[in-house]
Amino acid sequence: MDQNSLKQLVADAALKYVPEGEIIGVGTGSTANFFIDGLAGMRDRIKGAVASSEASAARLLAHGIPLFDLNDVESLPVYVDGADEVDAGFAMIKGGGAALTREKIVAAVARKFVCIADGSKKVAVLGKFPLPVEVIPLARAQVSRALAALGGRPVWREGVLTDNGNIILDVHDLAIAEPVRLEAEINQIVGVVTNGLFARRPADILLLGTAGGVLTFERN
Ligand code: 5RP
Repeated sequence: MDQNSLKQLVADAALKYVPEGEIIGVGTGSTANFFIDGLAGMRDRIKGAVASSEASAARLLAHGIPLFDLNDVESLPVYVDGADEVDAGFAMIKGGGAALTREKIVAAVARKFVCIADGSKKVAVLGKFPLPVEVIPLARAQVSRALAALGGRPVWREGVLTDNGNIILDVHDLAIAEPVRLEAEINQIVGVVTNGLFARRPADILLLGTAGGVLTFERN
């Protein structure tokens, strides 16, 4: 089975976590896109969605799924999104699609985070996938020096601006033994908007697509 088929498999499996009559949080990326397409089949049974990016908002709207502003929603029963890496504690690296800040904000409002990923995303130690960091453009050089001081090798994702008008630095060569600590430490650097470590608020449920089917893991 190819990677896209595995993404489709987990996206379909996530539909059963969508409660009827509610507003749900929807992530960004190719796996989330499969989920959005599946959600279209049950659009009359949900109230609507909060999107974590302009791209996902456009896809939801194209399917006729009502969009809500997060400011008008107090809490979401569930947030469904992909990941670039996920470890045994359900901490993740996200932001390959540059949507990490809005993803983190929407996830913070959700009571349950369902991570949907193909099996290649499961790792023992986070950091092989370069860690995306959203940065205010003016602070690019200064933040790069601070990230290098932490032992990483930041590379500017040139030509990419986030939905918030900021830039992305991808930090290579990190072996992230303590994701909760590093997430907080990077967020303390002046000029950083947020980083792609989702460790303080990890996933609650992990649906992993494998050749043998969907594996479901729940965080204790
Ligand atoms: C976007 C993300 C995505 O969830 C992550 O990059 C995974 O993407 P894909 O489902 O395309 O593999 O964090 O910012």
